[in-house]
Amino acid sequence: MNSDLYEHPALYDALLPVRAHLPYYMELARQSSGGILELACGTGQLTVPLAAAGLPVVGLDLSAPMLNTARERAAAANVSVEHLLGDMRNFNLGRGFGLIFVARNSLLHLHSTEDILATFAAIKRHLAPGGIFAFDIFNPNIPRLARPAQQRFPVMQVETELFGTLSVEETNDYDAAAQVTRARWYVSAPGKPDAWILPMELRSIFPQELPLLLTARGFQLKSRVGDLYETSFDSNSRSQVCLCVAD
Ligand SMILES: C[S@@+](CC[C@H](N)C(=O)[O-])C[C@H]1O[C@@H](n2cnc3c(N)ncnc32)[C@H](O)[C@@H]1O
Repeated sequence: MNSDLYEHPALYDALLPVRAHLPYYMELARQSSGGILELACGTGQLTVPLAAAGLPVVGLDLSAPMLNTARERAAAANVSVEHLLGDMRNFNLGRGFGLIFVARNSLLHLHSTEDILATFAAIKRHLAPGGIFAFDIFNPNIPRLARPAQQRFPVMQVETELFGTLSVEETNDYDAAAQVTRARWYVSAPGKPDAWILPMELRSIFPQELPLLLTARGFQLKSRVGDLYETSFDSNSRSQVCLCVAD
């Protein structure tokens, strides 16, 4: 089946269950005051546990199927979360938040510089005075970007309750001019090779361009670490885990 991963929320949850992101964003949320907004909240893997911990959280996402699962997850946990359908590039909730975060590389779904800047501007409009904008994105990995297009590479093998053992391979086709990797995930289930073929297109944001993009929309990069355990950021870091404040 050839389709978008976000049309298959159960498959998304089976392949990508939340791990270290939850304690990281939970701690940030606990330290914040004045409401929490997660943009690109997906199936509520973060919003629902935050709400279950008594934190006032709102989630926004572009995908109706992902949001349906988020609402089911909230109902099953007996917590109240506002899960809103919307586009992080252009939304208006009419209120401010003490913490706005975009987790797990979701910002990299914004391919053009205009889209990134529009999102930063929308976030700035919704940040309460003294609020924090937090996100984590990949640190571009040059050997990975340089892989030959069309050749398959293993990504992971996971045991899942719903689908049995799933194995994932990927092809990467990096468009260096656009800084966008046009990848494809080939997900196989027991007896079903390539049961799902899923396009996965992610922008690269390079370390030296990131502060410039933020500054262009009135943010300062307050801190950047290389992973969710706060290891120093350097050229070998897998991620850019960032905290930003408005000017
Ligand atoms: C990697 S998932 C992350 C989901 C969630 N944050 C989590 O931790 O599981 C990326 C999400 O970004 C959403 N998304 C992509 N583009 C978006 C946009 N322009 N506005 C809002 N959500 C968007 C997708 O629908 C998807 O649910």
